[in-house]
Amino acid sequence: MTVGRLAVIGAGTMGNGIAQVCSAAGLEVVMTDVSEAAARRGMEAIAGSLDRLLARGRIGPDERAATLARVRIATGLGETAGCDVIVEAATENVETKLRIFAELDRAAQPSAILASNTSSISLTRIAAATKRPAQVIGMHFFNPVPLMPLVELVRALQTSDATCETIRALAVRVGKTPVEVKNSPGFVSNRVLLPMLNEAVYCLREGLASAADIDAVMKLGMSHPMGPLALADLIGLDTCLAILEVLHDGFGDPKYRPCPLWREKVDAGHLGRKSGRGFFEYG
Ligand SMILES: NC(=O)c1ccc[n+]([C@@H]2O[C@H](COP(=O)([O-])OP(=O)(O)OC[C@H]3O[C@@H](n4cnc5c(N)ncnc54)[C@H](O)[C@@H]3O)[C@@H](O)[C@H]2O)c1
Repeated sequence: MTVGRLAVIGAGTMGNGIAQVCSAAGLEVVMTDVSEAAARRGMEAIAGSLDRLLARGRIGPDERAATLARVRIATGLGETAGCDVIVEAATENVETKLRIFAELDRAAQPSAILASNTSSISLTRIAAATKRPAQVIGMHFFNPVPLMPLVELVRALQTSDATCETIRALAVRVGKTPVEVKNSPGFVSNRVLLPMLNEAVYCLREGLASAADIDAVMKLGMSHPMGPLALADLIGLDTCLAILEVLHDGFGDPKYRPCPLWREKVDAGHLGRKSGRGFFEYG
């Protein structure tokens, strides 16, 4: 299948990045959110990101204008009707995703592929919420989407080869390198990453070192480009907590037990960069 029109559900951190790279590759994109204000903020984020690429000489003014012009915003799922592929990037919550996929299944044309950018939730379970499980797949982008080259293609038990090949080709078309993995809690990326972030948060809670020093250990000692606490702030502390809960519930193994400090931070509204404060403060 050749993909011409694509919808993105959720205009937050990931949704607006996905809309941007898909539009930059020439696709007509509709980006929807439950809230019109969030959809507008998503559009502003795309404009800001394109401005930075323009300032660095990575794109020209015509490309900036054309990329912006191919993205429309909407609320609700009605606008997804004529799309070939729908990429869901709404809040990381099982009930939210299952509800969205059941609704998308009714709203989208029968041939459409329904992809999710979930970081950890079972694609097999999401696929089972639809009457087209063979056309459901994980298309897991990384943050910040315009800069990170990987897309983890997550195959549900029901995903067909044709769906996988269409989404693999789409990932390549938007400039990414796809890596195929089987469905399992946290897939490969977050099963490896989140236990490390969790240990860093336990170190902070136990007072072993300051947040800056914990990050310095990993940057200077392990050559990580970002410290684990700054990375958690970038991902969003609510999203990190949700992924750890999926790992903990999915494997039933105490090694994934989320440090209680995640919940404290989330309850305080200290969600990381997106709220201006997490383990560090942002201007
Ligand atoms: N943040 C990351 O680094 C990262 C990386 C990879 C994948 N993900 C995944 O991407 C998804 C989105 O994460 P995010 O960081 O962009 O979250 P976010 O909180 O920045 O944005 C989520 C958006 O979804 C919207 N939303 C909520 N319910 C909705 C609904 N029913 N319909 C439409 N929109 C709805 C919210 O209004 C919000 O604008 C999650 O599944 C997350 O696990 C996040």
